[in-house]
Amino acid sequence: MSMDRLSRLLSDDGTPRIGFGGDYNPEQWDPSVWAEDVALMKEAGVNLVSVGIFSWALLEPTEGVYEFGWLDDVLELLHNAGIRVDLANASASPPPWLSHAYPESLPVTRSGVRLGYGSRQAFCASSADYRRAAAALTRKIVDRYASHPAVVMWHVHNEYGCHNQPCYCEVSGRAFQVWLAAKYGTIDAVNAAWGTAFWSQHYSSFREITPPRQSGASVNTCQVLDFARFSSDELLDCFRAEAAIIRDGSSHPVTTNFMGFSMGLDKPIDYWKWSEEMDIVSNDHYLIAADPRGYQELAMTADFLRGLAGGEPWMLMEHSTSAVNWQPRNRAKAPGEMLRNTMQHVARGADAALFFQWRASVAGTEKFHSAMLPHGGVSTARWREVVELGRSLQAISEVVGSRVTPPSVAIIHDTDARWGNELSDHPSVDVDVIAETRRWHSALLSTGVTSDIRRSIDEVSRYDVVIVPVQYLITQDGIDNLTGYVEQGGALIVTYFSGIVDEDDHLHLGSYPGAFAELLGVSMEEFFPLLAEEQVELTRFGFGRVFSEYGTVTTAEVLAEYAGGATAGSPAVTRRSFGTGVAYYVGTSLDRAGMLELLEQVGGGGRIVSAPGASDDVEIVSRSAGDRSWVFVINHGTQAAEVAIVGVELLSGRTVDGSLRVEAGQVAVVRVDAS
Ligand code: GAL
Repeated sequence: MSMDRLSRLLSDDGTPRIGFGGDYNPEQWDPSVWAEDVALMKEAGVNLVSVGIFSWALLEPTEGVYEFGWLDDVLELLHNAGIRVDLANASASPPPWLSHAYPESLPVTRSGVRLGYGSRQAFCASSADYRRAAAALTRKIVDRYASHPAVVMWHVHNEYGCHNQPCYCEVSGRAFQVWLAAKYGTIDAVNAAWGTAFWSQHYSSFREITPPRQSGASVNTCQVLDFARFSSDELLDCFRAEAAIIRDGSSHPVTTNFMGFSMGLDKPIDYWKWSEEMDIVSNDHYLIAADPRGYQELAMTADFLRGLAGGEPWMLMEHSTSAVNWQPRNRAKAPGEMLRNTMQHVARGADAALFFQWRASVAGTEKFHSAMLPHGGVSTARWREVVELGRSLQAISEVVGSRVTPPSVAIIHDTDARWGNELSDHPSVDVDVIAETRRWHSALLSTGVTSDIRRSIDEVSRYDVVIVPVQYLITQDGIDNLTGYVEQGGALIVTYFSGIVDEDDHLHLGSYPGAFAELLGVSMEEFFPLLAEEQVELTRFGFGRVFSEYGTVTTAEVLAEYAGGATAGSPAVTRRSFGTGVAYYVGTSLDRAGMLELLEQVGGGGRIVSAPGASDDVEIVSRSAGDRSWVFVINHGTQAAEVAIVGVELLSGRTVDGSLRVEAGQVAVVRVDAS
């Protein structure tokens, strides 16, 4: 809802527009540059910029002394040009004075090293000093700018948890004890949940508990898991406190920018929980230059964001026009790649597409990061592409407010299941939730099938097929929900290393896959993970990688066995009818051909309807509203594509009367009216 409202606020006459712009850091430049910035923003069609994200040290140069003059001038310039502002509360980068005045506010690593300032996000989430200072700054900014006509939304902090968490300091340790006391009530309950009878870890009081600091051997996994949950909650408390101050003084939507799938156990943020606190769900996405099919990961991330937004439109707060600065080899994007990337996000539900950043920096660690306005200025191909992108977004702005056409397939992704799988001492380091999720997502993508990403406890009855990749940890509620889904007619696919533990990382006893064994009708006894480059032949569906098992079926029918190797004869792919539905088990990581063959079997009878013309290179996604839909055809390949469709192609304005040709690397967006 707020996203719809925001899109209306982006134009003077209130007609919906796709948000387009980026992080604007004018404080890095002499004020004489600002007028040119604003003029060029107009030329590019920029309608929204994020301002002040890293400005704390300039806005409050010494504690309690504020200097807002420069920001007043910047907002005035933007307002006069009709450019709207996503104003930051600037809490992301505490200034040096804060670290000097309150040295305990600096975060501490797992091995006890207190980090320095000199970069950004140099604070401990539990630090009362940081929290007090961030709240005071937020209050000042809100008091001053809440009714500024340029400001249309609020940007709290920036990418929470990117650089400073988890923190293992004493202050965090005490906060962890309080968090545990609230969760468990008694120390006995902690001992039971953490299985502390193992290795003599029994605790007599909450005061004995520390963060899971570096130790001689692997640390208690449930302690690690709870510490991840605690760390996410500590930062969420910071967000809540700052957002509450903003909401007290302003009715504009509040967001903070997420980081897609980046938040594993090493940077734990539970976005499912966090998204409930957002007025607008927003995300930052960066391609990995070394990934030749990075657009598949982009598509999966965008689908995740739509899930976090509950299916509503969401906002792409940052992506890059070209290279970044933080990968080993930072390559420029190919011509047309930026347009394809942006259109992928919009096709998958984004109603705004912004970049980091507006003007490429002259100094600092990000000086080699691309920007909308490159070092070379306006006589560059990148600038011309940026201007062209602004025009393209304008041409398709009628999609604003529409929803992605409801998918018939959902993929389950739980934060706890991912973090749990990343705990130490597992059968194989190659079992990777994100990699396996991507295999399934990409297989569907290659047939033009869009999937939603949902949690195991979400209502999934409207999906014809639900895929559960590497659900290592599952709660009883999750099992009950997915069992009920099958019983009432759904088709469920569960992969290897699922159902293994409960929320305390205690095994679901019995045969594997633990909590899923009965529903799937299989009984596995031992794991036999494959070596890094090893593959095992199956009697059907090609080859398996990563994982295999010894075992048998109880009530399931065997669709494929391991054809050779140590697990020869054990079931690899099975099917069990249950209630009016069907549950499949896939005990290994199927290759693409095998996955598609299985999906064809599961999706028979219209459960999965592919889009003709889609392929590994040609992405087809649609959004719809009422009787109208918009079909995005994004050609990532080197050959022209042909798609059968009737409608109006919005980027060119041309009528398509049956066959659409999309040249290599190009994008088409076709409006289709149901007649
Ligand atoms: C993001 C961050 C931006 C910028 C960008 C560079 O993580 O929010 O401030 O650093 O990365 O890719």
